[in-house]
Amino acid sequence: MHNRVHIGDSDLQTPPLGIGAWQWGDTMMWGFGRGYDRSDAEAAFTASVNAGLTLIDTAESYGRGASERLVGEFIRRTDKPVIVATKFAPLPTRIGRRMVLRALNDSLNRLGLSRVDLYQVHWPFPVIPIEMLMDILADAVELGKIRYIGVSNYSEEQMRRAHAALAGRGLPLVSNQVEYSLLHRTPEVNGVWVACQELNISLIAYSPLAKGLLTGKYKPDSPPPGLRRLMPQYSRAALERMQPVIQTLAQIGAAHGGKTPAQVALNWLARQPGVLPIPGAKNAAQAEANAGAIGWDMTIDEADLLSEITLGWRK
Ligand SMILES: NC(=O)c1ccc[n+]([C@@H]2O[C@H](COP(=O)([O-])OP(=O)(O)OC[C@H]3O[C@@H](n4cnc5c(N)ncnc54)[C@H](OP(=O)(O)O)[C@@H]3O)[C@@H](O)[C@H]2O)c1
Repeated sequence: MHNRVHIGDSDLQTPPLGIGAWQWGDTMMWGFGRGYDRSDAEAAFTASVNAGLTLIDTAESYGRGASERLVGEFIRRTDKPVIVATKFAPLPTRIGRRMVLRALNDSLNRLGLSRVDLYQVHWPFPVIPIEMLMDILADAVELGKIRYIGVSNYSEEQMRRAHAALAGRGLPLVSNQVEYSLLHRTPEVNGVWVACQELNISLIAYSPLAKGLLTGKYKPDSPPPGLRRLMPQYSRAALERMQPVIQTLAQIGAAHGGKTPAQVALNWLARQPGVLPIPGAKNAAQAEANAGAIGWDMTIDEADLLSEITLGWRK
């Protein structure tokens, strides 16, 4: 059994690792339906919950609702406890309270739930002021449609405003979901991690494997398929520069009974206070491997070495 942590100032408890569900149903970025399908996604879900992982992160925008629908199906077929987190997509056309509540209702319908555990604002909202948006979400908590409120991609200042607005309603802001991995250390220097610690907000770390890069399976001569090829971190030069990091991850993994580079990279992230990585998995094998990233400890010297060799990493 894994040790469990609270998500921010909530009664939601999870092992210090969750599951990202963007892969389930998304064709454009991840190629769902080409090489893996819904039975692989369900097998990934089952492997994760059987391993004791409970936090599942989806969003209305993933596969245009397909991810929420699949998560809804999977949770109906399991008797394992799960915490469902989804996200509101703040599109510029969605102005006003009615549209926010309609988006929430649509998510609940796709998930087959009457209440979602964690509802996150997917990115800072350009149109509705933070205070007004938090007020609408606080009303949805009072209506019994949301248990807890989170944000995503919020800066320190935006997060503090959201936190203060909810405090005015007697509610906590429980999480800020931002990109964080060994290769993307921005939350350590932009004030977000420090403010999360101060305000007891969980930092949910997305792209914790740098979209597969930290697995070590992509090399200068074998870049990943699809859209990732166009990303600067997958350029030939970047993949070449990565190889010593992968070797260090592999060496540390070898000293811990043969953990893989991905498991070591996730273990490093999960040991950061208040941080909850949510790796995405396309199939049972990936999900099982990711679950093996926790439940053991690298040494302080190993963690320091990884911090040092990746500090200030530029894509
Ligand atoms: N809030 C936001 O704005 C935001 C943005 C991005 C993601 N997210 C959330 O964060 C989650 C995770 O981030 P992410 O999907 O961007 O990237 P990630 O978790 O860093 O990487 C996931 C990808 O890595 C590969 N992989 C995963 N586990 C593996 C294993 N054990 N062995 C080998 N390969 C493995 C798989 O792709 P391949 O097999 O194709 O390499 C998988 O699709 C998402 O599912 C989503 O819930 C949120």
